[in-house]
Amino acid sequence: MRLCEQGATLALNDIDADALETLMRRLPGSSHLSVPGDISSYETARKLAAAALQRAGRIDILINNAAILHCRDITETPEDEFDRVVDANVRSAYLCCRAVIPAMVAAQQGVIVNVGSISGMAGMEFDGKSTWLYSLTKAALLQLTRSLASRYGRDGLRINAVAPGPTRTSQLRGLVPGITAEQENMMWRSTGAEKTLLGRVGEPDEIANVVFFLAGPESGFMTGSVVVADGGYLVR
Ligand SMILES: NC(=O)c1ccc[n+]([C@@H]2O[C@H](COP(=O)([O-])OP(=O)(O)OC[C@H]3O[C@@H](n4cnc5c(N)ncnc54)[C@H](O)[C@@H]3O)[C@@H](O)[C@H]2O)c1
Repeated sequence: MRLCEQGATLALNDIDADALETLMRRLPGSSHLSVPGDISSYETARKLAAAALQRAGRIDILINNAAILHCRDITETPEDEFDRVVDANVRSAYLCCRAVIPAMVAAQQGVIVNVGSISGMAGMEFDGKSTWLYSLTKAALLQLTRSLASRYGRDGLRINAVAPGPTRTSQLRGLVPGITAEQENMMWRSTGAEKTLLGRVGEPDEIANVVFFLAGPESGFMTGSVVVADGGYLVR
């Protein structure tokens, strides 16, 4: 939304076509476009990049945000589930980077912001179960950030990541289908608020502000960085 307010043309993707359409209707301006679909498929990533280039003539910013939360011990995780989480969380970012970097290199400018997690920086459990697989994918995104920053700095690209702590979004509803509002509040309290120094979980806008900063000129001398926004969770 903040990028929109600054006059950016957005090319948005989500696998949830209805949610994407609802979001598109809320955006100010009429130049935005959406490409619904599974972003871990090359066809979707390619279509998204091509549509953005056609509409705007260039791609200034890529934000890799799609992910699914996974919370099941390694001994109980079947291979197809492993593949599904790695595809949604890592393959998606690989494909989007691959699709947009050529245009950014040609323009000798561009910014990529990867949405990681503090789960990629520590061992964590959620409701007694390990987040090992989610953590593994988020650690991969943080390393992708450093590796691509190293490779493409000479081409004028800046590549950074944000590592949010517990943030009140719809994430838990994906993890626990049918969860009630009261259960959701309780889970956010016990798995999030009680573990941060600020005694609360983050709000989506507080993470969006960091993404906005990393995407814009005020972070002009930053690349390969990971900005932690976790209310003090990790240092507690
Ligand atoms: N909420 C938190 O506490 C928290 C903490 C740390 C990091 N994060 C990260 O923030 C980002 C946003 O998460 P959120 O909390 O808003 O959760 P969310 O589940 O509400 O949003 C994730 C979005 O990704 C979409 N998605 C999932 N797989 C996809 C695929 N294959 N193709 C296209 N879209 C797909 C989902 O439909 C959903 O809209 C994620 O990267 C998440 O890992 C969230």
